[in-house]
Amino acid sequence: MDAVIKFTSQSQGRDRIFRAAQYACALSVYVLRNNTGRKELVAKLKGLEANVSAGRKLLRLGNTLNSIEAAKRTMQLSDRVLCLCLTAANINRALYFICDNVLWARSVGLIRDIDKERWSLNASRCYFFSLVMNLTRDVYVVLHLMMQRARDKQFRQKMDRYLSESPEVAEAVIPQLDALLFLLLESLKSHPAVALDTLKNICDLFIPLDRLGIYQSNAGVVGFCGLISSLIGIVTLAQPKLRIKP
Ligand SMILES: *[C@@H]1O[C@H](CO)[C@@H](O)[C@H](O)[C@H]1NC(C)=O
Repeated sequence: MDAVIKFTSQSQGRDRIFRAAQYACALSVYVLRNNTGRKELVAKLKGLEANVSAGRKLLRLGNTLNSIEAAKRTMQLSDRVLCLCLTAANINRALYFICDNVLWARSVGLIRDIDKERWSLNASRCYFFSLVMNLTRDVYVVLHLMMQRARDKQFRQKMDRYLSESPEVAEAVIPQLDALLFLLLESLKSHPAVALDTLKNICDLFIPLDRLGIYQSNAGVVGFCGLISSLIGIVTLAQPKLRIKP
C-alpha cells in the first residue's frame, strides 16, 4: 500500500509532463484544423494525443489511494474552512480517479457492460466539484491575506500614498474599488504560491465546464487552459516554494 502511494507520488512529475504534451497536441490540432496542407500532421497529433491520454490513465491507477491518504491528512487541519474544502476536494478527487480507473478498465477490455458516457460524465462532475472546493479554498486564503494586510499599519500608509499619488484614482468612480484592487494585487504579489494555485484552478475549471456543457468554450480554449495549468503544475513540482500549503 505504502509502495503504491510512494510510486504514484513519484510518477506525478511524469504525469504532469505528459499532461502538458496532451494539451499541447490538442491546442495544435485546434490551431491547424483548417490548414489543408497539414492534414497529415493533424492526424498524427490526434493519434499522439489519444495515446498520451491512454498512457496517463495507466499511470494514474494508484491515484485513488493517494487522494484518500491526502483526505485523511486534510481532515486533521485545525482551520475548519480549510479542513472542509480540502477534504471535500480530495474525496471528490478520489471519486474522479475511481471513474477514471473504471473507464481505463473498459478501454482495455477488462470490463464490458458499463455505460462509458455516464461514467465519463460522472468523472467530469467529480473533477468539477474537486476544483470548485479548491477554488473556494483559494478565495478563502486570499481574503484572509487581504484582511491581514488591511490591518497592517505600514501597509495602510503605503496604500494611502499610492491612492493619493495616482491621478487616475482621484477620478475613479469608486475609489474603494481601487483600494480593494490594490490590496488584492499586493496580497497576490507577496504570496506567489497562492496566486499560481488560483490561476491553475481557474484554468483547469474550463475543462469540466466545457465537458459538462455548463459553459461551452471550444477545443482551443480547453487546450490552451490545460497547457497553462500543466505548466504551472510542473513549475510548482520543481519549485516547492511555489506550492500552496497545506
Ligand atoms: C485540489 O488541491 C489539492 C491540494 O492542493 C491537489 O492535490 C488536487 O490535485 C487539487 N484538485 C484538482 C482537481 O486539481
